[in-house]
Amino acid sequence: MMNIPHIIEFSKIGSPDLGYITVAEAQKNVPFDIKRVYWTYYTPQDIIRGGHAHKKLQQIIFAVSGTIEFNTLDLQGNTDTFILDSPAKGLYLPHLIWRDIKFSHSAVLLCLASELYDEKDYFRDFEDFKNYEP
Ligand code: TYD
Repeated sequence: MMNIPHIIEFSKIGSPDLGYITVAEAQKNVPFDIKRVYWTYYTPQDIIRGGHAHKKLQQIIFAVSGTIEFNTLDLQGNTDTFILDSPAKGLYLPHLIWRDIKFSHSAVLLCLASELYDEKDYFRDFEDFKNYEP
C-alpha cells in the first residue's frame, strides 16, 4: 500500500452486454475501515471545489458518473493530477494532501472516508497547511 495519492483500479464484474458492478470492501480493496460515505452532485463545471487538506482522514474517491479531475499537493511540494473517468477508478488520498477538484457536467463524486466528519480535521488555509510540521 503506497502512502501517496494514487489510482486504485477496482474490478469490474460483468460485461458490456449486461453492465457492471464494482465493489469496495473495508480492509480488502479499501485499506481502512470505512466510517463515512458521502457524495456530491450538481457541481457547476466552472467551480473549483476542494481547497483543503486533512490532518488524519484517508479517502477513496470515485467519479460514479462523469469525469472528475484532482490536482494534489503534499507537504514536500510534490504535485500530481488524477483524472477519474471511469466508475471503476478510485483515487486513494492519504492524510495531509491539499486538493483542488474540477467536475464535468453532471459528475457525481462518491467518497469512502476513514473517519466521521470533523471540521477540526481540516486545513482550510493554504499557509497553515504549508507551514504544518507533523
Ligand atoms: P467540503 O469538505 O469543504 O467539500 P468540498 O471539498 O467538496 O468543497 O464540505 C463542504 C461543506 O459540507 C462544508 O461546510 C462541510 C460540510 N460537510 C459536512 O457537514 N459533513 C461531511 O461529511 C462533509 C464531507 C462535508
